[in-house]
Amino acid sequence: MIMSAISASAEIVDINTQASSIILDATPGRPLQFLYYGPKLSPADAAVLKAAGGPRLNAYPAYGMTTVSETAIAVRHADGNMTLDLNVESVKRDGHVTTVTLKDTHYPFAVDINYRTWPDSEVIETWTEISHDEPSAVTLTQFASGYLPVRFGDVWLSSLWGNWGNEAQLEQEPLTHGLKSIKNKDGIRNSHYAHSEIMLSLDGKPREESGRTIGAALCYSGNYLLRIDTDHSSYHHFFAGINDENSEYHLAPGERFETPVLALTYSEEGTGGASRNFHRWGRAHRMAHADRERKILLNSWEGVYFDIKEKEMAQMMADIADLGGELFVMDDGWFGPVYHRDDAKASLGDWTVDTRKLPHGIKGLTDAARKRGIRFGIWIEPEMTDTMSLLYREHPEYVIEEKSHKTRYGRGGNQIALDLGNPAVQDIVFSIVDTLLTKYPEIDYIKWDANACIKNHGSAYLTSDNQSHLYIDYHRGLARTLDRIRAKYPDVTIQACAGGGGRANWGVMPWFDEFWVSDNTDALQRIFIQWGTSYFYPAIAMASHISATPNHQTLRTIPLKFRTDVAMSGRLGMEMQPKDMTSAEKDQCRKAIAEYKEIRPVVQFGDLYRLVSPYDRKGVASLLYASPGKDKAVFFWWRTENFRNKQYPRVVMNGLDPDRTYRVREINRIDRKPLAFEGKSFSGRFLMSTGLELPVTHDVPADDRTEYSSRVLLLESE
Ligand code: GLA
Repeated sequence: MIMSAISASAEIVDINTQASSIILDATPGRPLQFLYYGPKLSPADAAVLKAAGGPRLNAYPAYGMTTVSETAIAVRHADGNMTLDLNVESVKRDGHVTTVTLKDTHYPFAVDINYRTWPDSEVIETWTEISHDEPSAVTLTQFASGYLPVRFGDVWLSSLWGNWGNEAQLEQEPLTHGLKSIKNKDGIRNSHYAHSEIMLSLDGKPREESGRTIGAALCYSGNYLLRIDTDHSSYHHFFAGINDENSEYHLAPGERFETPVLALTYSEEGTGGASRNFHRWGRAHRMAHADRERKILLNSWEGVYFDIKEKEMAQMMADIADLGGELFVMDDGWFGPVYHRDDAKASLGDWTVDTRKLPHGIKGLTDAARKRGIRFGIWIEPEMTDTMSLLYREHPEYVIEEKSHKTRYGRGGNQIALDLGNPAVQDIVFSIVDTLLTKYPEIDYIKWDANACIKNHGSAYLTSDNQSHLYIDYHRGLARTLDRIRAKYPDVTIQACAGGGGRANWGVMPWFDEFWVSDNTDALQRIFIQWGTSYFYPAIAMASHISATPNHQTLRTIPLKFRTDVAMSGRLGMEMQPKDMTSAEKDQCRKAIAEYKEIRPVVQFGDLYRLVSPYDRKGVASLLYASPGKDKAVFFWWRTENFRNKQYPRVVMNGLDPDRTYRVREINRIDRKPLAFEGKSFSGRFLMSTGLELPVTHDVPADDRTEYSSRVLLLESE
C-alpha cells in the first residue's frame, strides 16, 4: 500500500512489505527525495519522520545541475546539452507496483522510477524506465537501476569475489571513505570474478542472526557496476545498474529504456535474515519451477569428458538408475556431424548428433533412459560457435567480431560468441532448443552452457554509430530468446552454466531452474563456494555433484562420505564414472540417494540457518535447513581443518521451534556404532542453546580412517 497512514499529505509515498518500508517525498514539481528505508514504520512514527531528520537526498541523482557527487543517470540530449534536472510529475499505483514519474524541467525527457512489492516477500524491487520526446536520439551515458543512501556509521560490506573454480568467495569489510566498486565486464557471464549482490550490515561487523542488514541484488545477466561512495556527507551512497562503460546507449524518441531490477531487502536478523528473504522471494517469484523438487542426476562430464559413446551412455544410465537417481545428463561431446566435437576446438553451432559416437542418435538414448525409468538431459552451448563449424562457414556475419583487427578466439582456440543482439541469431539460438525438443520430446533437462566472454567488440548487425549497444543488446537478445523458449517449453528443466559458476545471477533465473555453482567439484573447496553463494541463492538453485577422487580440479583425495555430505547440502547430483566405483561405494551412494529423497523437501524448500562459517576458520563449518513449518530440519556439519587436539566449537543450532521436541537421526552414517544421541529427542530450546557434541572422528575400522569427518542429522519433531 502506498500513501497510507504515513501522512495526510499526498506527497509522501511509502512502499511497504510486511516488515519494511521505503519512504519517499514525491511532491510534484520538486526532486524526488529519499526519506527512509528500514523496518515498517507505525503510522505514529511515520507522521513525525520528517521531524526526526533524515537523508532528504535525491532518490535518483542526475548529472548536470549538480556535479560533485556520484549520480544514477547522465545523458547527452539531442542538442548536445549534458544536464538533467528531474522533478516529480506524478505518482501511479498499479497493484503492487508504484511508479513515480520524473520529468526534466526543460527537456521532454522522463524517468519512471518503479517499485514492486510482493505480499509474501520481504523484497522491494526497483527499476527505472527512461524515455524522451526530443527531436532525435538522446545518448544515455549512465543509467543505474537504483540508488540507496545508507547513513554513515559502522557499516560493513559483504560481497563475493572469485575466479573460475573458486567462485563466490565471501569478503566482509568495513566501508571506508572513497569509492568501492564491484563490476563485471565479461559481456556474457557475470559471476566468476564478482557477484552483483551485496549486503550492508549497519551495526558493525556482520552477524548471522542479528543486526540491521540491507541486501541488494542487481538482477541482470550482463555487465554490471555496483558503486558505494562513502564521501564527505553523512551517507554511504549505493548505486547499482548495468555497467555503462563502453555501453553508451542512443535512445530514440519514443523508445523506452528499461533498466534491470534491483532487489532490496531489509532484515534485523543479520545476514542470515537477509539471505532467507532473498531465498523466499527468489523461490516464489524469480526462478523457474522453484515449487518442484529437483531430480537427482548423473552428469557425464567428469566421468567421460568428450569421450561420449553409446555404450558408456547406456552404462551410465543403467548405473544411475540402479543407484536410485532420476535423470541422466549427457554433457559436451555428443554433436558435430562434420567437424567432430572430440575436444573444445570444433563444432559448437552444429547441434546434430555425431553418429560415429551415437549410432542410434538421441532417440536411442531417450529410449534407453525410459527403459531404465529415468529421464534424459543434454548439454548445449547455444550462444557460441567455433570457426570449425558449419554454422560459422555459412554465417560468419553472425559472430561478434571486428574485421579490421586480427580476431581473438576463446576456448579451444576457435570459439567465438554469436551476436545475440541480431534477431536472426536469436532465431538460430531459439531453433537449436526448439529442434531438439521437438524432435526429442523426451528430453527433460537442458544444461545451457556459455563458455565465452565477448572479445573483438564488433557487430555486423549494429550500425557503426550504435556499436556501443553491443553488450546491452546481447542481453536483451538473450532475454527475448529465453522468453520464446519458455513460452513454448514451460516445463523443461534448464540449468544455467557458464564455465562453471559464471551465471549465478538473479538476472537469468526467471528462465532457469538452477545453476552450476562451479566447475570445481572438490568437496572441501565447495563448502566455501556454496557458503558464499548461499548469501543470495537458495539450495534448490545450487547444483552440487559428488565427483571422483582424487578430485580433478584440486587433486585432493576426499572420502565418499564427505563428498556426499557436501553435495547433499545443495541440489544433489553425481558427476563421475560410476563403473569405476567399488560395490561398497555404490552401496554408500545408493543409500545416500535414498536418504536425500527423504530430506530433499527440507533442503530444497526450507529456510537456511548458517551456523559456523568456514571463513571463520574454526575448523568446522555447519548449517541447517528448517522446513517452513519447523517440523523437520537437516543439520550439516563438516570438519574443514584437521589438527590434532584442536578445540573445535560445539555447534548451537538455530531455526527450530524452541517448544517442540526433535528426534535425531544420522543420515549417511558410516560409523560402526550409532552416535550417543541417535534416536534420542531434544527440545528445540536445548538444541538452540547448547547443541549436540559431535565426535570429530568417525568410528570406522583403522584402514578406513581418513583426515575427514562430517555429519548430517535429520531432526524430526514428534
Ligand atoms: C564448461 C562447464 C562444464 C562442462 C564443460 C563442457 O566448462 O562448466 O561443466 O559442461 O563446459 O565442455
